Amino acid sequence: MRISCRHAANVFIALFLALAVRPCLRSQATNYPDKPPVLLGAAWYPEQWPESRWDQDLTLMEAAHIDVVRVAEFAWSTMEPSEGNYQFDWLDRAIAAAARHHICVVLGTPTAAPPAWLTTKYPETLRWNEFDRRDEHGNRQQFSFTDPKYRQFAHAIAEQMAIHFGHNPNVVGWQLDNEYANPSFDPSAKEQFHRWLEKKYGSVAELNRRWATAYWSQTYDNFDEIPVRENDENPALLLDWKRFVSETWKNYSENQISAIRTHADPRQFITTNTMGWFDGFDEYTVHSVLDIAAWDDYIGSDKYDYVSNGATHDLTRGYKNKNFWVMETEPAFVNWRKTNTPLWRGQIRDMAWQAIGHGSDAVEYWQWRSAPNGQEEYHGVLVGADGTPVPDYAEIQQVGEEFAKAGPALAGTSPHSDAALVNDYDSRWAISFQRHSANFDPVGEMLAFYRPLREKSQSVDVISINAPFDGYKVLVLPGLNVISQKAADRLMEYVRNGGRLLLGPRSGMKDEFDALQPERQPGALAALLGGRVDQFYALDYDVPLTGDLGSGTANIWAEQLSTQSSDTKVVERYGVKGQNSGAPGAPGFGATGLNGWLDDQPAVLTRKVGKGRITYVGAWLDDALLDNITAGLLEEAGVQPILPGVPKGVEVCRRTGDGKTGQGKSVLILINHNSDAAHVSLPAPMRNLIGSQSTAVSTVDLPAYGVAVLAKE
Ligand code: GLA
Repeated sequence: MRISCRHAANVFIALFLALAVRPCLRSQATNYPDKPPVLLGAAWYPEQWPESRWDQDLTLMEAAHIDVVRVAEFAWSTMEPSEGNYQFDWLDRAIAAAARHHICVVLGTPTAAPPAWLTTKYPETLRWNEFDRRDEHGNRQQFSFTDPKYRQFAHAIAEQMAIHFGHNPNVVGWQLDNEYANPSFDPSAKEQFHRWLEKKYGSVAELNRRWATAYWSQTYDNFDEIPVRENDENPALLLDWKRFVSETWKNYSENQISAIRTHADPRQFITTNTMGWFDGFDEYTVHSVLDIAAWDDYIGSDKYDYVSNGATHDLTRGYKNKNFWVMETEPAFVNWRKTNTPLWRGQIRDMAWQAIGHGSDAVEYWQWRSAPNGQEEYHGVLVGADGTPVPDYAEIQQVGEEFAKAGPALAGTSPHSDAALVNDYDSRWAISFQRHSANFDPVGEMLAFYRPLREKSQSVDVISINAPFDGYKVLVLPGLNVISQKAADRLMEYVRNGGRLLLGPRSGMKDEFDALQPERQPGALAALLGGRVDQFYALDYDVPLTGDLGSGTANIWAEQLSTQSSDTKVVERYGVKGQNSGAPGAPGFGATGLNGWLDDQPAVLTRKVGKGRITYVGAWLDDALLDNITAGLLEEAGVQPILPGVPKGVEVCRRTGDGKTGQGKSVLILINHNSDAAHVSLPAPMRNLIGSQSTAVSTVDLPAYGVAVLAKE
């Protein structure tokens, strides 16, 4: 593929202008003066192997340019083999051995895997599922996240570890637990939920009012009567349960943080490893007490969808609004899917650089070496149980070499965006509780809006509704179903100050109690829009649309809109049966896709407000229409792509500098996600920091899954 690079001269001007107007400085996740700025790592389980074999493993790690290992996150039974009997000598030796190979350590607190003695002696520490069935030993995550006894043990092991390792110069950080996931429904959880509700509502009468419990005789006489469920309940209860779960994971974290912070050097960060779009709790709540964000980047399907994977990196970056770590990723394949197909040769490197391009400062593989036994014997690794490298080791070694080469240029840099997408857990939960249209997946709708935004601007932040909006030229809220007055006020101010706000379907329907707003959608924003939703419809067929954005279709969801103000413009309308003649199935043709209610009704509205604009999209639009609407908004807002005209499937990422170490830096990362070669022209000569040529180049040839990391001369 050969393309010419249009608007070349404007690119660098746009780049520096963009830098000049950014309001808030981002930063690297971690900045250790004595450690590489970009780290390659792996999960290492020394407790699974005889000590005599550690050095062989660490030698191979060093040869692969591995800088960091995460250890101990499931090693409770080795660290505390019986109650109060702490054994850290082996871990001291493992950390020291790693240091001899220039490998630093992230320590995991082992609380995702309590030992058998603990749960046997204190069965109240075990988790109950929603139907009151108690978990058993033998798997992991079998603990109750609320149980006071469990909290006591978790605090004690974290404290003992912090006393022991908190000043170890080779320990750079802490991972709390592992992939927080399942809430418990044991008696302590139920009791705490009831007290949480009592504190929130003050009186049961207020709760009855907010939840509208006269419906189906749900009226409660006291808080203890309230069921504790995560399904088939009043959605107001379900929403509060999710918030309670979020607060509980937060204070579960604080329990361990207080133990670690008291004894550990402040340079040691504290994080936990998260799971992308998982919606079990609100990540922003939990991250309010963590130092950096980290996630486990696994491809959950047969196909590596790089746009969707990039969106998850951006989501994670948004938890703390700064760079993050990929705490785990797959070396070629996992073991937990139906058919665990591998990544293609080259894609491991492609994924690693994508993580860095989106603001990760570390990429760690799970896991270093196959465990001798256990539930995950088939998982991808770098080294087999025999202790020798498997084929993907060489590709990861190449990644390590490249991180070492490009690291200094990337130090102090992070991605910066003019466009942001809002991720709101309350809204995602509220939609999921009552989808109305089975295919209305809130994350799918987020990604449908993210895709063209990313493609056209080449950089998107994914942020919380409570994050600062100023500095963003375009703000997209694909489904802000739950809207508080405070959020509405901030959004109105954003538009009045010149921002461009794009709202997706189902926006502004509910208040914070999941109650229907007294005004039609988009609730408090309807007046600013000068328009509203008259009715919503679930669809399982294509509905044609025509208008300024062109012709296309909607599916899954369509809202019948109306204008309430003369300066509110109808951008797109649903078709009319028999309006056009031609091939059946095409937009506006025949009976397919028309339900009568939507005929000729507005589907997309927009209104200019001073220099700002509010646009409401009332339907799940096809990709082409979403492309057009996004392109129009970005153009009006003056948002340029970082590198225009790159071939399809070539991703452009840019990290620019902030702070002392990053001042004036700008690094482009180009990744060819295609299975064939691509050619990219650069607007000015740049040096490929990981290429074989030492001089600056004006064009880059990227083989299949090829990567270039470019900096100005
Ligand atoms: C998760 C866990 C790891 C391991 C991997 C396997 O992300 O955190 O312990 O089980 O999955 O893919």
